[in-house]
Amino acid sequence: MSIRTLDDLLAEGVSGRRVLVRADLNVPLDKQTGAITDDGRIRAVLPTLGALVEAGAKVVVCSHLGRPKGAPDPQFSLGPVAGRLGELLGAPVHFATDTVGDSARSTVADLADGQVALLENLRFNAGETSKDEAERGAFADQLAAFGDAYVDDAFGAVHRKHASVFDVPARLPHVAGRLVLREVEVLSKLTGEPERPYVVVLGGSKVSDKLAVIEALLPTVDRLLIGGGMCFTFLKAQGLEVGTSLLEKDMVETCRNLLERSGGKIMLPVDVVVADAFAPDAAHDTVRVDGIPSHRLGLDVGPETVAGFSAALSQAKTIFWNGPMGVFEMPAFAAGTRGVAEAITKADAFSVVGGGDSAAAVRALGLDESSFGHISTGGGASLEYLEGKTLPGIAALEN
Ligand code: 3PG
Ligand code: MG
Repeated sequence: MSIRTLDDLLAEGVSGRRVLVRADLNVPLDKQTGAITDDGRIRAVLPTLGALVEAGAKVVVCSHLGRPKGAPDPQFSLGPVAGRLGELLGAPVHFATDTVGDSARSTVADLADGQVALLENLRFNAGETSKDEAERGAFADQLAAFGDAYVDDAFGAVHRKHASVFDVPARLPHVAGRLVLREVEVLSKLTGEPERPYVVVLGGSKVSDKLAVIEALLPTVDRLLIGGGMCFTFLKAQGLEVGTSLLEKDMVETCRNLLERSGGKIMLPVDVVVADAFAPDAAHDTVRVDGIPSHRLGLDVGPETVAGFSAALSQAKTIFWNGPMGVFEMPAFAAGTRGVAEAITKADAFSVVGGGDSAAAVRALGLDESSFGHISTGGGASLEYLEGKTLPGIAALEN
């Protein structure tokens, strides 16, 4: 791989140079208070930012947060992230209240060597995500004007063909940051020759998001364990009734087909926790998957399922996990995710946790992060990597 790295850039010397860093600071926020509920993605870019600060660069950080519609929207401001980043760096972060306007220009111009600025949310500008090359290019020109070199450390966004990810590196000397390098190094082990048995656990709510990766993984994996909201479409495909559980009707046929072709590799839940409503205090019981009442919905996998999944995981030498097993944010429906996560930590395997949600689950459940081989900051990005897709952000660094 012909990618230049942060170390190459540091070796050239960055003292007094402006270095534009694309980070993925898209952290989850509390819906009521707007507080950052998991700062894992902020902490993940500290090695790159710290190295640049220490080398005396003028560090200009940019990121998206959420999915604003190409115009400023206060609920998606990166302001709180600037505060948290400053705390973690141990030095104030100069926050620009726009992305490429007057505030950004003066903030960048006023930076002293070794100082850090954060620009406002990239997606407040339609040019960031535009499908139109010229519109993206015009925005990329404005961003590129803030740097003498570009570092991509936004692994979670490398699958997006966006201005800051794809077009800016075409305009500036560019390198991969420490996080992007580490992520690619780890994930390439899974697409190469993983030590066997290779067991993949998939959860989360939507089958349609995971179809491509299931297709891509089936020939490679030894076992594919499916839980989370998406398991109900598979259970339906087996002819079971799923009550009012999440169901993607137009995916039932596809799931049936996958089950037929999977050669028995796919393992589905045998019991689930069903509730009267999607609420933390809803009345709930554990039932066999062939006994889901018509008026109730499944919100977690049950203990027998956890035992079965754990047994499969205990044999594994390589594990990839993406997506929670249930609504882990509600304590009544967290046992499945916790049980599977614990089984992963106990296995004598190289384990990779992929995805914002699963990574957040690990931390929210108070599990020891260091007992996993690697916790990826990329959800969609790690899945697309495993699918073997070309990732625009990586491709842009290769040129
Ligand atoms: C993510 O959270 O998956 C990344 O930050 C990318 O965000 P996006 O899915 O809104 O492009
Ligand atoms: Mg995403």
